[in-house]
Amino acid sequence: MNIADDSTAIIIGSGGGIGKALKQELFKENYYRKIICFSKTNDIQLDITDENAIMKVTNELKRKNIKINLLINAVGYLHDKNFFPEKKISEISNDYLINSFKLNSIGHALIIKYFNSLFSEKEKSFLVCLSARVGSISDNYLGGWYGYRASKAALNQIVRSASIELKRKKPNLVLASVHPGTVYTKLSKPFIKESKCFSTNESAKKILKTIYKLTKEDSGKFIDYQGKVIPY
Ligand SMILES: NC(=O)c1ccc[n+]([C@@H]2O[C@H](COP(=O)([O-])OP(=O)(O)OC[C@H]3O[C@@H](n4cnc5c(N)ncnc54)[C@H](OP(=O)(O)O)[C@@H]3O)[C@@H](O)[C@H]2O)c1
Repeated sequence: MNIADDSTAIIIGSGGGIGKALKQELFKENYYRKIICFSKTNDIQLDITDENAIMKVTNELKRKNIKINLLINAVGYLHDKNFFPEKKISEISNDYLINSFKLNSIGHALIIKYFNSLFSEKEKSFLVCLSARVGSISDNYLGGWYGYRASKAALNQIVRSASIELKRKKPNLVLASVHPGTVYTKLSKPFIKESKCFSTNESAKKILKTIYKLTKEDSGKFIDYQGKVIPY
C-alpha cells in the first residue's frame, strides 16, 4: 500500500477482543508511522459516550497536526452484568435500549462528528465502524435482540448519511460499516462455540484486507469481512 510518511492509523476500542487484534495486526503490518489507540480501560483512555472527552482528544490531535489515514471504531455492546439481549417483546427494557444506542450508535456518531475533520485530504483514507450482520433489517428472519439489532441498524444509517455529506468535503474518504464475522470475544462468548467462529486475529486480518480494497464508490456501504455487500 502507498501511504504518506506521516501516515496515522487510529483504533478506538483497542481493549476489546477485535480492537486489540486490529491494533496488533497494524503494528505487524508496519504501514503507518503512527498508530494511536483509544480504549475505555487501556491505552489512551476515551469513553465514547463522553462528547466532551472526544472533543478534547480531537482538539489535541488537531494541535499536533495529525492527519488520519485509517480509523476503525471497534466499540460495541451486547450484554453486561445487568442485561442480556432480549428474546421476546416482554423483555424490552428502557435502560438496555439506552445502553445499546449509546454505545452502538450515538458513540460512533460522535466519533464521526469530531474525527472527520482530521482525515487526510490528499490520500485515500478510511473511517470504519464495526457493525453486525444482525443490524440488517432485510436479513432479519429470526427476530429478538431488539436493542442490538436496532442500534446497529441506526449505526448503518448514520454511516450512510455521513458518507453522503462528506463526499463533497472529503472526496478521498471512504466510510463503511463492517461486519467482522462471528468472532470469539467477551461480547459473543455467551452465545457461540469457540470452534464455530473466527479467532480475533483471523477476523482482524480479514477486516484490514477488506478495508484496503474499498474504493470511493463503496463509501456508505454495509459490508462483511469478505468485502461482500450486506443489504440494509
Ligand atoms: N464478536 C463478534 O462475534 C461480533 C460479531 C458482529 C459484530 N461485532 C462487533 O464488533 C465490535 C467489537 O466487538 P468485540 O467482539 O471485540 O467485543 P468486546 O471484546 O466486548 O469489545 C468491545 C469494546 O468496546 C469497548 N467499550 C465499551 N464501552 C465503551 C465506552 N463507553 N467507550 C469506549 N469503549 C467502550 C470495550 O472497552 P474496554 O475493554 O476498555 O471496556 C471493548 O474494547 C463491536 O462493535 C461488536 O458489536 C462483534
